[in-house]
Order: sequence, then C-alpha cells, then structure tokens
Amino acid sequence: MLDIAFAKPVLPRSGALVLLVGEGELPSGLWEHANGTTSGAISRAFDAAGFTGGKGKTCTILAPGAGLSRVVAVGLGKRDALTRRGLEEAGGHALAALSRDSTASLAADGLSAEQAANVALGAVLRSYRFDRYRTKEKPEDKPKLTELAMLVDDNAAATAAFAPHEAVAKGVFLSRDLVSEPANILNPAEMARRCEGLRELGVEVEVLGPDELRKLGFGALLGVSQGSANEPRVVVMQWHGARGAPQQKPLAFVGKGVTFDTGGISIKPAGGMEDMKWDMAGAGAVIGLMAALAGRKARADVVGIVGLVENMPSATAQRPGDVVKSLSGQTIEVINTDAEGRLVLADALWYCQQRFDPAFMVDLATLTGAVIIGLGHEHAGLFSNDDALAGKLLAAGIESGEKLWRMPLNDEYDRQIKSDIADMKNVGGRPAGSITGAQFIQRFVNGRPWAHLDIAGMAWSSKDAPTRPKGATAFGVRLLDRLVAEHHEG
Ligand code: BES
Ligand code: MN
Ligand code: ZN
Repeated sequence: MLDIAFAKPVLPRSGALVLLVGEGELPSGLWEHANGTTSGAISRAFDAAGFTGGKGKTCTILAPGAGLSRVVAVGLGKRDALTRRGLEEAGGHALAALSRDSTASLAADGLSAEQAANVALGAVLRSYRFDRYRTKEKPEDKPKLTELAMLVDDNAAATAAFAPHEAVAKGVFLSRDLVSEPANILNPAEMARRCEGLRELGVEVEVLGPDELRKLGFGALLGVSQGSANEPRVVVMQWHGARGAPQQKPLAFVGKGVTFDTGGISIKPAGGMEDMKWDMAGAGAVIGLMAALAGRKARADVVGIVGLVENMPSATAQRPGDVVKSLSGQTIEVINTDAEGRLVLADALWYCQQRFDPAFMVDLATLTGAVIIGLGHEHAGLFSNDDALAGKLLAAGIESGEKLWRMPLNDEYDRQIKSDIADMKNVGGRPAGSITGAQFIQRFVNGRPWAHLDIAGMAWSSKDAPTRPKGATAFGVRLLDRLVAEHHEG
C-alpha cells in the first residue's frame, strides 16, 4: 500500500509536486513559492492551458525548473463547497497523474489536518493494483511511487487523523483482493481461511463447515452447494469494540459469497460468465468492513456473517423444481437454480437473527441482473423494512460516494413468489426481478430491522474512477464504515 508521510510545508527540491487549486484562486503558500522559484512557469502554464482550478480538472507541467520533475495541479472547485468526498477525489486525481514518479510531495498547506487526511485517503485508494498474476510486467511499466509526502501545517495532527482512514483503506484493499481473485484460487474454503486472517486484528472468527451446516439445518444454502466439489462454509466474525459502553445489541452485516455462479442446472450463457467470479462481492464487502472496523478500533459491537458456496451443475446438483427446507423451517421450491444468492442469504440471515438478536441486519449481495437494468452502475438498490435505517444508509451513501437508491417492498410483490407446492418459490418472474428477490429475503429476517443492498451493478467497474482503478470496487466497505461511524459509536 502507498505510504503516506505527513511533513511540514517546505518546498521540495526534487521530484514531483502536487498543488491543490481552488477555483479562481490566486497563488499563496507553497504554490506561490513554487511559482516564484520557477520564475512564473506555473502561472504561465495555467494560463496557456486555461486551468482555473475547476473541480476534477488537472494541469501537468513537466520540468518547470527549481529541480522539480513535474508539477501537477488538481482543481478543487469552489473552496466553500469543498466536501470530504471532493478532497478524496482530489487525492485520487493527483495519484493518477503521479504514477510515473518515484518521489512526490503534495502541498496541503492551508488545509486542516482532517482535510489533508481525506486527500491522502483518496490517493491511497486510487493506488490499488491487483498484480499477483502478472509475471512478465516490465519494471518500468509498474507504478514507481511508493511514498507520498503530504506537506501540511499541523503534520502531527494529520498523522493522527489519517490512522483510521488508513485502516479503512486496508479493509477496502482486502475486499478488492478477494473480489479480484479467480474462482480456482478463491473457493469457499480459501475464502474462509482469508477470514481467519482477521484474528490478527482482534476479530473473533468461527468457521462452520459442511458437517456443522448439515447438523444445524442450513438446507437452502446446502442445496446451492451440493453440485460443487468445493464444499461450503459459513464464517461468523465478531468485533467487540463497544467495551465498557452500555451494552447494546450488535450491528449485523451479512454477505452473499458465491465464489462462482455458473447458474447451476439453470446454467448461464457463456458470454460474460467469467464475471461470476465476483459473485462473492457482498461477502467481500462484509470481510473488508470487519477489517476496517477492527483496524480503526471502532467503538461498536459488530457481527459479520458470510455464506460461502460455489454454484455448479453436476450429477449431484439440485434440479429446478426441487424443494428444500431452509434453516427457518420454511420450504422453498427452487424453480431456477440461478437464483441462488437468496437461498444462501435466507439461511445466513435466519441464523444471524436467531443467534445474535442484532439491532439491525444489513445484507449485501450481487443478487440480480435486474438491478443493473433499473439503476445501472450509479446506485445500488436499497430495500428495507425500516425507514430510519434506510435513511441512515442513504445519507452514508452520499457521504461515502457509494450511492444507494431505495426501491419498494410490499405484499403485492410478495405474492409473485407464492408456490403451488411449497411455502414459496425462489423466483417471481421477470417483472420487478430485484424487488421479488428482496421480498424473498425479507421472509427470512423474522420481522427484524433489516436492509438489503443489491450491489450487482456496483461491485465491479469497467472504467477508472477518481478513487479507484477499474475492476473490483469494494462497494459497501466505506458506506457501512460511515454508517457505523456516524450513528453507532458512543
Ligand atoms: N449473480 C447473479 C446476479 C448478477 C448478474 C450479478 C449480473 C452480477 C451481474 C444471480 O445469482 C443471478 O443469477 N440472478 C438471476 C436471478 C433470476 C434467475 C431470477 C438473474 O439476475 O438473472
Ligand atoms: Mn445466479
Ligand atoms: Zn449469483
């Protein structure tokens, strides 16, 4: 991970320098100083390029003099409209422009310690790479920057302010690593082993294997995994951070972890099926979230549960029309074996509420293609039986930039999943496909406060964004970290 070192604002004599420029601002501080020592090269370049500090705009000046290899100016837009998210994005834009440099400093003079820490977080988040399987990349093609010096007035305060952000970034990176891994490496057992790595951070981790799941009665989840040679796991992670504080019910997060979704006997078409390696992104987000919360020692009691299975067609696979008995006792007619995520969540959520009596449960799942038709790649679908919880999630979405859009639930939609021979069927036909998926899940929350995030359109991105390269997004980690930080820590 990119190292961040906070130092006093002194103009560097070499390497690259990043300037953060507010819309229409006059040079001041390090910017004015750098412009002076380069005989006005920076101002001239801004004029020539028409750069005025507009939000998200950048201007790069090569070898401007004074020993600097390049100056990268990043526009902040209007200073008085500057948000936490805007600062992160500025840090991300800066990092993207710097990857060819081995030494770089960012002039954050004039920013508060917390603001500088936000810029640093953005830079770190953008620096992510998954290069484990590239054996032939030339060294000169790899990004060279390993440390970014943040020049800020109160560098001690900024160092302290950055510590929790760095923990969250580590959670995001863990989640992106999991989601990026191919399914031949990351099967349920391997994913459970990676969860066990969280013990290092003080997280209590329990792994339930196939025998225990059978004994407990996870019939819906086991039906999905029965066609695969890779056996299922359910991992229960607990972070006890509330300490001493008046004991409250834990917060619970539950993730769909289908390490590969072929569709099963209702097999998917070949085109794009490789994407189904990231059908465990809901679980990946829960694991990254637990790492983030434990890493920054969040003052809250939090449970994370992930249901890990592989959905394969084989001689032992479940068939369309099979009836399974879920952990809740409710029976399910499996019309379509490709609607498997809800079967996994049904048992994981029931288990969660029975065992932990949580204040609320939030599940995350790459549940439906239909949510991508409805909301594209801009918002995840939010479904909830609790307006207060939904409101907090929507707000955390805006703050974190991981945006949600609320969709409806009601009895009419629920009727679509009535079965002729069992308590329900696992699909409700084409109309409102994301909603009927949510209605199905709702039948397993036992009336508890609950929200379901359908992240199918958000877990993977085909293009770069300011605070992440294309690929795994870790959608949900920062959103839910915000939810916990804003509402559930002492
Ligand atoms: N994992 C898929 C949903 C998905 C699709 C995620 C595209 C990411 C990108 C899920 O298990 C699935 O197959 N859903 C079906 C449900 C249908 C059979 C009711 C779908 O969306 O087609
Ligand atoms: Mn499926
Ligand atoms: Zn799936």
